[in-house]
Amino acid sequence: MTEPILTISGLTKTYASGFQALKGIDLRIGKGEIFALLGPNGAGKTTLISIVCGIVTPSSGTVVAAGHDIVREARAARFRIGLVPQELTTDAFESVWATVSFSRGLFRRQPNPAYIEKVLRDLSLWEKRKNKIMTLSGGMKRRVMIAKALSHEPDILFLDEPTAGVDVELRREMWSMVRRLREEGVTIILTTHYIDEAEEMADRIGIINKGELIVVEEKAKLMQKLGKRRLTLTLPEPMTALPPALAGWPLSLKAAGNQLEYTFDKHDAVATGQPRDIPSLLRRLNELGIAFKDLNTSQSSLEEIFVDLVSGETEARP
Ligand SMILES: Nc1ncnc2c1ncn2[C@@H]1O[C@H](COP(=O)(O)OP(=O)(O)O)[C@@H](O)[C@H]1O
Ligand SMILES: [Mg+2]
Repeated sequence: MTEPILTISGLTKTYASGFQALKGIDLRIGKGEIFALLGPNGAGKTTLISIVCGIVTPSSGTVVAAGHDIVREARAARFRIGLVPQELTTDAFESVWATVSFSRGLFRRQPNPAYIEKVLRDLSLWEKRKNKIMTLSGGMKRRVMIAKALSHEPDILFLDEPTAGVDVELRREMWSMVRRLREEGVTIILTTHYIDEAEEMADRIGIINKGELIVVEEKAKLMQKLGKRRLTLTLPEPMTALPPALAGWPLSLKAAGNQLEYTFDKHDAVATGQPRDIPSLLRRLNELGIAFKDLNTSQSSLEEIFVDLVSGETEARP
């Protein structure tokens, strides 16, 4: 990882209701990363972001953003952060230009019309700069939220569920916009409960569940480490039960006994001392005289990894 721009240590949050939303979060985000915080509803994503942005006070732990402690140097820290909140909140009667310029002013930044113009152009809002917010489509309003968040030239941008309830086209646009921002040196932390979004966008993925970060990993490594491979063999005629000679192999019958499914990963081989690869299985089947007429392999998706982790079936391996 590059030099960290955000360091979260031992962060907990217990709300006044007594509910513990965060249970000791440790996380470092490198400069220029796109980090996706993935987790089901209620996992604590918005709580975590809200603490970093100074909206919610932590119960314990520390957060240092761009070199500033978010409690002791709240103002300096917030100055370096842009936040696109989960809920759309904009002043309906203002023009796009006015609302974005006003946001910059809130951070006591000197006016910089050239910068605001660049932001609006990048977000395809330039043509709409004189329009009142209330006349814009939902997608355009969302872009205005992003423009506001960028108005004071932050180094870290938080996007809380940027594409929840957004149509496919706008999602794709949003993704390419996020990539452009990163190219300009902005560190991006987005939360999502859409797995494909994390898979598409992120350099690293953190999975949060019930207030705990259960995995933080480079996307590619996460898929490699936790991803299982699956081989599906279509049988010439259905089997009613697995032959006893295949006991101990991770096999199951599918499609009313017409398919034999083999799910494995390389860790299984280490753990069980049994070969766990396709050639070994095919050799064994051949020895047993079990034929097949078709064969398919696939790698589990991030979705399956996520469901496994969140339901606690798979332990994250170091
Ligand atoms: N102000 C609050 N008071 C009490 N509980 C809260 C408050 N805000 C959020 N929670 C609870 O904390 C948990 C995490 O919420 P949140 O951080 O919004 O999750 P996420 O963004 O991952 O959906 C949820 O169970 C939510 O109901
Ligand atoms: Mg949320």
